[in-house]
Amino acid sequence: MSDGYMTGFGNHFATEAVSGALPIGRNSPQKPAFGLYAEQLSGTAFTAPRSENRRSWLYRLRPSAAHPPFTPYQGAAHFDPRPDSAPLSPNRMRWSPLAMSDAGDVDWVDGMTTMLASHGAETQSGAVVHIYRANKDMERRAFVSADGELLFIPEQGRLTLLTELGRIDLSPGEVAVVPRGVRFRVTLPDGSARGYVAENHGAPFRLPDLGPIGSNGLANPRDFETPVAWFEDVEGEFELVQKYLGQLWRTDLGRSPLDVVAWHGNLAPCKYDLARFNTIGTVSFDHPDPSIFTVLTSPSDVPGTANADFVIFPPRWMVAEDTFRPPWFHRNVMSEAMGLIHGAYDAKAEGFGPGALSLHNQMSGHGPDVASWKGASEAELKPHKIENTMAFMVESRWVFRPTAFACTCAQRDYDSAWAGFPKADVRR
Ligand SMILES: [Fe+2]
Repeated sequence: MSDGYMTGFGNHFATEAVSGALPIGRNSPQKPAFGLYAEQLSGTAFTAPRSENRRSWLYRLRPSAAHPPFTPYQGAAHFDPRPDSAPLSPNRMRWSPLAMSDAGDVDWVDGMTTMLASHGAETQSGAVVHIYRANKDMERRAFVSADGELLFIPEQGRLTLLTELGRIDLSPGEVAVVPRGVRFRVTLPDGSARGYVAENHGAPFRLPDLGPIGSNGLANPRDFETPVAWFEDVEGEFELVQKYLGQLWRTDLGRSPLDVVAWHGNLAPCKYDLARFNTIGTVSFDHPDPSIFTVLTSPSDVPGTANADFVIFPPRWMVAEDTFRPPWFHRNVMSEAMGLIHGAYDAKAEGFGPGALSLHNQMSGHGPDVASWKGASEAELKPHKIENTMAFMVESRWVFRPTAFACTCAQRDYDSAWAGFPKADVRR
């Protein structure tokens, strides 16, 4: 255990903020210690195979069932994962970073802007990409998504995620996963923050299989950190905003929902420092498919075909001989949403700074822009380290559809990234 966290991915953890709060040897004693309420939170069907099964037992000041009816939530004007209703074009799309100055005076919930969505949460598949901008703490309110787990990818400013199962301090360069159904609020140690959230409607993220790589490598399980139990005892006005089938609802709890004094189980939030990713690449020629950079994967019902992969492009040595080293030109059956946490991405010379977003859906031709292609084609192939960069991709078997808001603010000239390539000359 390190400083408020327990290490390991998907472990069965046991933690208590008050000594004696966690029952020993059973989940639901007749009288839990201190009069706490025992509650199970399941992230998979009860009968899911053991290797897939995720659930935790929570011991709390009041049952989460105690609340009045939900009513529609009127805030968060752009937190709306309904795709634009127009037919989806096969066009490549890209967005410049959303300006902090346009965000208004908003907390994390009201500053959420949904950009891309594959399809509705009722399908229990697909993914949504949001961008958040926030400049004030969520104070007496919490948020929960019933639709999917949330992968936080901060780009500017630290976040503190105060969740039912513990407190996560998150900096740009780290990512965190909050499971579907876990209530939390977000505070901003730096006063403002911007970043991405990938919402996964499908099977929970897990570490990818490693195949011939062996038993180590990529994201190693011990580098994931799950918070120890933490709670707040806050009475009085407290709003809960819930995302449910893509719509936002609210209720008044009359207390903080972050009142879990002890818990045990394997459904819990965690964080991961992307700098700990063990990056693997070629030491001869060509570079492998970018699946080699998968941090977490949500499988679909087709083997090897992800509902959503979270992939990073981290600092790494480039040593391949006689090789075009940046990403090659490609058209894929999978669809790709990309963002940049810091630095520059090696396939785009301009137009894709930190906070930007791009979309290359199924069979869209893409790859390096002209300047990147020219530079890499002519470069002397000595060992070279790509440094100070962290791009990421949410790759899915499902196409991403931009939201109506996203359609209003896409870059207008993205196709020009691939204009002006000289023609090959077979007569030479
Ligand atoms: Fe791509």
